[in-house]
Amino acid sequence: MDKSLLSKTAAAMMTPGKGVLAADESAGTCEKRFQSVNVDCTEENRRTYRGLLFTTPGVSQYISGVILHDETLRQSGNDGATFPAYLAKNGIVPGIKVDKGVVQIPLAQAGEKVTEGLDGLDKRMAEYFKLGARFAKWRAVITIGDGIPSHTCIYANAHALARYAGACQAASIVPMIEPEVLLDGSHTIERCEEVTEATLRATFAALAAYNVSFEHTILKASMVVSGNACSRQAGVDEVAERTLRVLKRTVPASLPGVVFLSGGQSDEAATAHLDAMNRMGAPWPLTFSYSRALQNPALKAWSGKAANYAAAQKAFAHRARMNGLASQGKWKPEAEKAA
Ligand code: 13P
Repeated sequence: MDKSLLSKTAAAMMTPGKGVLAADESAGTCEKRFQSVNVDCTEENRRTYRGLLFTTPGVSQYISGVILHDETLRQSGNDGATFPAYLAKNGIVPGIKVDKGVVQIPLAQAGEKVTEGLDGLDKRMAEYFKLGARFAKWRAVITIGDGIPSHTCIYANAHALARYAGACQAASIVPMIEPEVLLDGSHTIERCEEVTEATLRATFAALAAYNVSFEHTILKASMVVSGNACSRQAGVDEVAERTLRVLKRTVPASLPGVVFLSGGQSDEAATAHLDAMNRMGAPWPLTFSYSRALQNPALKAWSGKAANYAAAQKAFAHRARMNGLASQGKWKPEAEKAA
């Protein structure tokens, strides 16, 4: 465990004014996204599209790290350099998604999932380090519904996150722990706040129990929002206030930073929420680690056509810049129009 490398990696990821691009969609998720723009989800199309994002001119001004899928970590761009080597050369920290997706927890209610991927993780970590990955993501999924989440679900996921985080640090890779409370459902924002608090409390207790170093861990959090089918949709300031309140109650001040997932929020809502939280101020740097809220306009602009490459890069650069501003509390809705 190289603590000085872990500190250096975490500090680089949390560079002021920058955030992390999540480009680690599984082939299944990629298929859904590509289908929405009528593009075949082939390995070559995935390589082309991700290469488009990574080589966007000027993007390293706003992007400090990229979460890659196993497939992408091993692919090369059109210049012949492997993607992790290309990113590192451009001052962007390459990361890797290491979980193997979710399964139903036996004997629990339907919808109660736990994340798999712990078996053999130490060997995979050593290989990922050699391939250039310096941080790793693991996503746990907590669903809100009638009588769920249960303690079983919250604890099973907290312990898996803690074991994975320990394996990361032992391999000198910074863990980006992602306990995602889903926004799907008709639940209120109050219920989301309660579940997020319970989830984060259990997660940090498990990390402590497994001797995970908080100084070398990044939290990828979901924001506290109204369920997407709830009749009352909370406004920007309420989301920011509730999210910060929960984080302050549960997240150690020693963490180098907190990044957020977008979770299905609109592009602009994800930016506005991050901006509002940074205006309010927090004990840690707060930035983005979005997939959809960074990529949606670029994917649409590209639509699988080489002729759209530059337009897609422009759309991606714009969202990266907007979120870079939001990570400093300097975004304004008018800035969106200046695209
Ligand atoms: P979204 O921003 O689309 O929620 O994706 C972030 C992510 O990495 C999910 O694991």
